[in-house]
Amino acid sequence: MCGIVGYLGRREAVPIVIEGLKRLEYRGYDSAGVALFSDGAIDVVKRVGKVSTLEEALRARGLKATIGIGHTRWATHGAPSEINAHPHLDCRSDIAVIHNGVLENYSSLKKRLLENGHRFVSETDTEVVAHLIEGLYTTGTSLDQAVRLALQQVRGTYGLVVMSRREPDRLIAARRGSPLVLGYADDGYFIASDASALIQHTRKVTYLEDGELAIISRNGIITKTLDDVEVRKAVEEVTFELEQIERGGYDHFMLKEIHEQPETIRNAMRGRLLVEQGEVKLGGLDHVRKKFVQARRIILLGCGTSWHAGLAGEYMLEQIAKIPTEVEYASEFRYRNPVITPDDVVFAISQSGETADTLAALREAKARGATVLGIVNVVGSTIARETEGGVYIHAGPEIGVASTKAFTAQLTVLAMVTLMVARWRNVVGVDQKLLARELASLPEKVARVLSRYDLIKRIAEEFKDGRNFLYLGRGANFPVALEGALKLKEISYIHAEGYPAAEMKHGPIALIDEHMPVVFIVPKDAIYEKVISNIEEVRARRGRIIAIANEDDDQIHKLAEFVIPVPRTYGFFGPIVNVVPLQLLAYSIAVARGTNVDQPRNLAKSVTVE
Ligand code: F6R
Repeated sequence: MCGIVGYLGRREAVPIVIEGLKRLEYRGYDSAGVALFSDGAIDVVKRVGKVSTLEEALRARGLKATIGIGHTRWATHGAPSEINAHPHLDCRSDIAVIHNGVLENYSSLKKRLLENGHRFVSETDTEVVAHLIEGLYTTGTSLDQAVRLALQQVRGTYGLVVMSRREPDRLIAARRGSPLVLGYADDGYFIASDASALIQHTRKVTYLEDGELAIISRNGIITKTLDDVEVRKAVEEVTFELEQIERGGYDHFMLKEIHEQPETIRNAMRGRLLVEQGEVKLGGLDHVRKKFVQARRIILLGCGTSWHAGLAGEYMLEQIAKIPTEVEYASEFRYRNPVITPDDVVFAISQSGETADTLAALREAKARGATVLGIVNVVGSTIARETEGGVYIHAGPEIGVASTKAFTAQLTVLAMVTLMVARWRNVVGVDQKLLARELASLPEKVARVLSRYDLIKRIAEEFKDGRNFLYLGRGANFPVALEGALKLKEISYIHAEGYPAAEMKHGPIALIDEHMPVVFIVPKDAIYEKVISNIEEVRARRGRIIAIANEDDDQIHKLAEFVIPVPRTYGFFGPIVNVVPLQLLAYSIAVARGTNVDQPRNLAKSVTVE
């Protein structure tokens, strides 16, 4: 949600900032801008649209500088426009600010600043910061002091970087609620919203914590608290490779990430699932074993796709580990005064580890005494750092805005947590060895589904002009229906709804006619016959049926117009395999409709605002 890049050093800043913004474009892509310091002045260039448009504009201007900041925007306050794009300036164009986050009290601050004679040009909350700093940046005050004083007046969230004409060899960065990472190289220093913007230049990073400020100069970086106390931070090594954040021959990141799933599922299990022994070892949970043994219940928190993973996890935890489990929208949980006790174990599930709602919900649960753990992808992210322990899903960087490989890796981790909790709580009747073997077989099964891509493309051609879709599944495949519908909505802009198949007759059945595609997830499990009855109900109303069914299901071909075969999978682990054709279907329909698959309209990869 908004990408920030800054550079100060011996090299040309423009290519570094532009390259960094391109890597961060998945965080926001409605407009972009840079501020560069050269010849005693700050030059600002902004454009609506993609970073490549900004790049062309910069090429035309031929600006040169060794210090620069850049921003790619996901609009919160003010429509996407050149005026509202960052950086924002003070009245004298001496101070430039880029910001990710939301300033809650900006309108009262703006009113006061207007009364004091400041002139505003944009509708953004961010511009307030530039004017606040301007007012406080009096003779004898340094830029970092002025930034600190300004931030004492704002309420809300920010990751921001400030540049000043008066102190051209410095950048000031500060963080509350929106991530910032600092990078160290021999020929300069970097700041960015995430490490993917830096790793081309350096692997040495430190993460700024909430309430911290960094003074970046040509001599190094000093970090302080916002109360001006110096903080010494350990330099960490970024471990992912550049290829992992490049498309590697695929048309889109989403397609690449869908195809990576056999490997990412394997990575999630590597060194943790001991198939022969039928055991799971999750080092990040060992120290809270007693809490799991004594727990009254488990609560799974998440948003969007991560919430769907929680729903599928609930089936595993309740049915296999026999522990009461609740799944909560993080965004609702934080505002409904939940009853939480120290006997509750809470997992925050998040790909990015930065989702504002999930972070706020886990803080709420922590404040109420629960044991708070994470199931997170991004190493070193805020959720990972604020939880008492947890499990990284090890899916590698997910760049496509629509989440795919993170979902299946989250489910794989939830399955392993389930096996471990079942063992810790001595649940009888769980064949751990059998379930471990089932888990180990998932990568190969997912690869088999991927081999159906051509069939799925043909189905997509047939349905690409649809206006509405229904996705229906039962039991553990109900969350798969929700996820399939979400994927389609996000990237193809076709309205889609996921429903428990049997709920259809309580309302949505009214929608069915010969124009309505209905996707059924119908594996041969204990409720297979029930879902077949639901299929018959749709057929009777001339709905068009696409079935995700097992490879050995002969009956289904008589009922469905299209069948996408999937391997048989142990019931509660089924979602890990059954969701894959739905990812490919949504992708193929979006491509057939010509939408921007990796950067769908109005969305951003990590939602760091409420
Ligand atoms: C869907 C999607 C979103 C995210 C949600 C939570 O494709 O990407 O629904 O799942 O915003 O994000 P994380 O998992 O980063 O907390």
